[in-house]
Amino acid sequence: MEKKIVLVTGASSGIGQETAKLMARQGYIVYGTSRLANFEKTSYTMIPMTLEDEGSVGAAVKHVAQAHGRIDVLVNAAGSGIAGAVEETSAEEAKAQFDVCLFGALSVQSAVLPYMRAQGSGMIINIGSMASCFPVPFQGMYSAVKAALFMMSATLAMELKPFGIKVCVVEPGDTKTGFTDKREYTKRTAKTAYNPYFERALYEMIRSELNAYGPQKCAKMVLKTAEQKNPPIRKSVGIGYKTLYAASKLLPWRAKMAVIKMIYLIKDPPSGAVWTFDKQFGKAANQQKD
Ligand SMILES: NC(=O)c1ccc[n+]([C@@H]2O[C@H](COP(=O)([O-])OP(=O)(O)OC[C@H]3O[C@@H](n4cnc5c(N)ncnc54)[C@H](OP(=O)(O)O)[C@@H]3O)[C@@H](O)[C@H]2O)c1
Repeated sequence: MEKKIVLVTGASSGIGQETAKLMARQGYIVYGTSRLANFEKTSYTMIPMTLEDEGSVGAAVKHVAQAHGRIDVLVNAAGSGIAGAVEETSAEEAKAQFDVCLFGALSVQSAVLPYMRAQGSGMIINIGSMASCFPVPFQGMYSAVKAALFMMSATLAMELKPFGIKVCVVEPGDTKTGFTDKREYTKRTAKTAYNPYFERALYEMIRSELNAYGPQKCAKMVLKTAEQKNPPIRKSVGIGYKTLYAASKLLPWRAKMAVIKMIYLIKDPPSGAVWTFDKQFGKAANQQKD
């Protein structure tokens, strides 16, 4: 049987990287992308792509399509997150979050779709987040962009039905990757009235990510999805998050938000917490409190 051609964005790290490695091991011909220009040797081919640059997106997709005449699976894994109070997020910062996680995914899928429509088949797997259904305090823009990504994908799935192209959003929960270290912070959040609450939420966010499952679990879910004839429109990753998602559909919003507040906003970080928000640098720093 002919090998399938896969394009994985964000394949230099985390979920994208593990997906690219796993799919290459399973016999797919895999192309991965990153903003970097120099690539280490991998079991798949790396090509440059910057999500905010439509020219670079178009060139990367064309490169794969010209080499093989088709693209069977697109995995949109590239992404990043910004944290900070909603009030203190500038329009520019919010736009940057959407540029990467929504408009970036849109550009890549729009560049790939003409090839998929011409071949009459294909699958788009967008990496969303549980944050799409659970508003996480001080990650308002991240929750908003992942909710938007889900709605765009669900709409796309219906529009693509006549062309034999499937769409699925894989929504991981907290995952231990480079995402935590690379998280951006809104410029204005560092020293304001929000700070004690922000510290609590940030501590819990980071604690949970550092103790979470690794990206391999998401990669397995992506592979399983790519091999399904007719995947559902969304999937959670891991039994804990599957249960949480099911519960979230049953709980009224008031109850759901009360639970989220309990997790993120009530408890102070324990003294001696390893991960703390460094007000001076406006970054989460891996520093031990004395
Ligand atoms: N980690 C989590 O807890 C978690 C939970 C739920 C969902 N997710 C989602 O999973 C996806 C992957 O995240 P991850 O955890 O694997 O993070 P990661 O380890 O930081 O990897 C992010 C990848 O995205 C690429 N990327 C970031 N910004 C880009 C841009 N502007 N243009 C092109 N490429 C860009 C990075 O490549 P270069 O830097 O090399 O360009 C890197 O390969 C994201 O969509 C994230 O929102 C993560």
